[in-house]
Amino acid sequence: MSAPNQLAQFPSLKGKRVFVTGGGTGIGAAVVSALAEQGALVAFVDIATEASEALCQRIAASGHPAPLFRQVDLRDIPTLQSTIADLASQLGDFDVLVNNAANDERHKLEDVTQEYWDNRIAINQRPSFFAVQSVVPGMKKKGGGSIINFSSISWHTSGGGYPVYTTAKASVLGLTRGLARDLGPHNIRVNTVTPGWVMTERQIALWLDEKGKEDIKRNQCLQGELLPWHLARMVLFLAADDSVMCTAQEFIVDAGWA
Ligand SMILES: NC(=O)c1ccc[n+]([C@@H]2O[C@H](COP(=O)([O-])OP(=O)(O)OC[C@H]3O[C@@H](n4cnc5c(N)ncnc54)[C@H](O)[C@@H]3O)[C@@H](O)[C@H]2O)c1
Repeated sequence: MSAPNQLAQFPSLKGKRVFVTGGGTGIGAAVVSALAEQGALVAFVDIATEASEALCQRIAASGHPAPLFRQVDLRDIPTLQSTIADLASQLGDFDVLVNNAANDERHKLEDVTQEYWDNRIAINQRPSFFAVQSVVPGMKKKGGGSIINFSSISWHTSGGGYPVYTTAKASVLGLTRGLARDLGPHNIRVNTVTPGWVMTERQIALWLDEKGKEDIKRNQCLQGELLPWHLARMVLFLAADDSVMCTAQEFIVDAGWA
């Protein structure tokens, strides 16, 4: 199901410079598309080159500003930071950062080595901090900004099967709330968006089975599928000036599961 036609426009997003991690597929792609539809100038990084380039072409073909895409593995912090600097010099300093990318690979407590732990943290936690570090000087120069960090209901609901992922996703709230205090005086807002179980290509291909469908039915207050565009709408609100006095908060979009 795609987004219905009669949804809100956010005039303050027109011309805003936005940087998104993991914008090539899943929720990130919906966020990139929704922002471009509002007239924002979007740059994003991903490892999925083919899907990311196809997304840029689809957006350009629909008449919206084509996003800038760079292939970056977020585990490589120096490259992430130099790419953000390069994109900012091309587009202008960023007004909005969306820390979206993650990887929810399953693992068992007894199998986690120190190397595996480091690798999970390197994708699910570390890049968000360093992306913030990169965009904040530009936001300070501009007199403000909005940072949106993605968490997950998995740890709220005591979800098992991926303890390093839930550790990283719970820590997103610490990142949000700690930085909101430091950055508030600069008019930079920091918030968390927490998805429920969203029916992305990856979730459907890897994890959704009959039991999963029953879990969704039983646990969601609202029936029906939670889709990437539902999350993108919350990101639009938090990126726009409509949410000008919202900071340090968690916004849960989960159809009432958690
Ligand atoms: N889909 C869900 O049900 C769900 C539930 C809770 C939370 N979330 C959160 O929402 C966010 C988006 O999730 P999603 O389901 O769209 O994920 P996804 O796996 O569908 O997409 C993530 C994107 O990040 C990219 N990516 C992964 N590793 C990367 C790396 N090392 N470097 C650069 N790019 C990389 C992928 O290529 C992909 O395009 C994540 O933070 C996730 O934790 C999702």
